Amino acid sequence: MAIHTILKMGDPRLLRAVRPVAEFNTEALRGLVVDMHDTMRAAHGAGLAAPQIGVDLQVVVFGSEVTNPRYPGRPLVPATVLINPVITPLGSEEELDWEGCLSVPGLRGRVPRWTRIRYTGFDLAGLPVDRTVEGFHARVVQHECDHLAGILYPMRMRDFTQFGFTEVLFPGMESNQDD
Ligand code: NI
Repeated sequence: MAIHTILKMGDPRLLRAVRPVAEFNTEALRGLVVDMHDTMRAAHGAGLAAPQIGVDLQVVVFGSEVTNPRYPGRPLVPATVLINPVITPLGSEEELDWEGCLSVPGLRGRVPRWTRIRYTGFDLAGLPVDRTVEGFHARVVQHECDHLAGILYPMRMRDFTQFGFTEVLFPGMESNQDD
């Protein structure tokens, strides 16, 4: 088990489009996923992408079996390892909601995302993942997969009047000082 330092916005490694995983079920890949889970949980993240710990592979983890203290009141997203993901929007409907990012600590912004998506990819063993989801689950997946293309959520924002410090926007909500 290893908790890694999470890279912060400004680090050029967060702006790279990273490469697909070529070989599944290897010791190295299993170790990466364990470290990503440990790092995500330690930071109370809703998700984490490999580039956030400096690894240039298309691997994201997200979700949990318990409510996330950084996103109280949001529906549970099943704990998922998603490798080489592809997102297809279903319909043209978008919704705006608040997001944070462990690489952009202390801030929140309202970000437009597709309401409904299908996402495909592979799990750790190389078995296919294929889900159709909406709302918060769809938002988390879009946020994490954007990291694989070198996109951070502020780059998706259209209205910077809805961008600010978490402690100012939501006084009393945050117990986690990391974000
Ligand atoms: Ni993020």
